Amino acid sequence: MSVNLKGRNFLTLLDYSKEEIEYLLDLAAELKDKKKKGIPVDIHRGKNVALIFEKTSTRTRCSFEVAANDLGMGSTYLDPKASQIGKKESIADTARVLGRMFDAIEYRGYGQEIVEELADKAGVPVWNGLTNEFHPTQLLADMLTIREKFGKIEGITFAYLGDARYNMGNSIMIACAKMGMHFIACTNKKYFPDRKLVERCKEIAKESGATITLTEDVNDVKGADVVYTDVWVSMGEPDEIWEERIKDLTPYRVTSEVMKIAGDKAVFMHCLPAFHDLNTETGRVIKEKYGLDEMEVTDEVFESAQSVVFDEAENRMHTIKAVMYATL
Ligand code: CP
Ligand code: NVA
Repeated sequence: MSVNLKGRNFLTLLDYSKEEIEYLLDLAAELKDKKKKGIPVDIHRGKNVALIFEKTSTRTRCSFEVAANDLGMGSTYLDPKASQIGKKESIADTARVLGRMFDAIEYRGYGQEIVEELADKAGVPVWNGLTNEFHPTQLLADMLTIREKFGKIEGITFAYLGDARYNMGNSIMIACAKMGMHFIACTNKKYFPDRKLVERCKEIAKESGATITLTEDVNDVKGADVVYTDVWVSMGEPDEIWEERIKDLTPYRVTSEVMKIAGDKAVFMHCLPAFHDLNTETGRVIKEKYGLDEMEVTDEVFESAQSVVFDEAENRMHTIKAVMYATL
């Protein structure tokens, strides 16, 4: 089947078929190979993209900027303080202005309805660089990494520990359902993904052969190929919730014991940034207030041979480049 994604938005993996996702992963692998060999891919020379970041970023911003540059495009970074967005100008008006000047728009920020409104009004492709609900470009990088490590995606067992009802948990569950992976959300039941989304993913899973398991028992990660976690408190959430999250999610920290339960062949993954030591400002504040040296993952696991987190981080750029390459 020939896949043509020109003009498409990239807002959530729910909008993409298995074949289209596979196409983007194949394209990303090809672009990665070309980058390593120094073969130019500047097919979008003369185009320009706007990068709106209402939340902070290292990987996503750098990936969009480097990928745009590699594709021959100009990029303009808009942070919330340096633009009119939100305070003096609505999203709908911003979309109509930027759509006149740019060939596509990336948005990182709050509700999914914002990126949807942008896409509705801009008249050019819009890419989701993270919302509260979804982080689809992260999942492309994660799946490319899984394919590199295991030689396949279908049939992989993907265990996610921690806050499974936010952007990462949701996006991983969707990716598993679409691609025929076995998803295990292993966490306190307060943090299970939204029931409606679980039902929707179970429907999708019927076609792909995926399974979806929600469990509070860490022993259920036995045999998992991927053990994944994310920060316990996401960007935009209030500092006051740290105490409750620490209490609820400490039993689901990824430790060497958890990796042993999964088994020797398991890899550890994390979208990053991660709190695994005291070398961050937040890490030190949490240590002072709650006495923790590490949070969602131990430093031992993070630095272990099973950890593939920096391969994942690199793959953000190659996969984002594939999205830009294909949809423009
Ligand atoms: N994983 C991820 O999205 O990283 P940034 O917040 O640094 O972009
Ligand atoms: N759940 C995290 C993901 C960061 C990439 C957040 O939203 O802050």
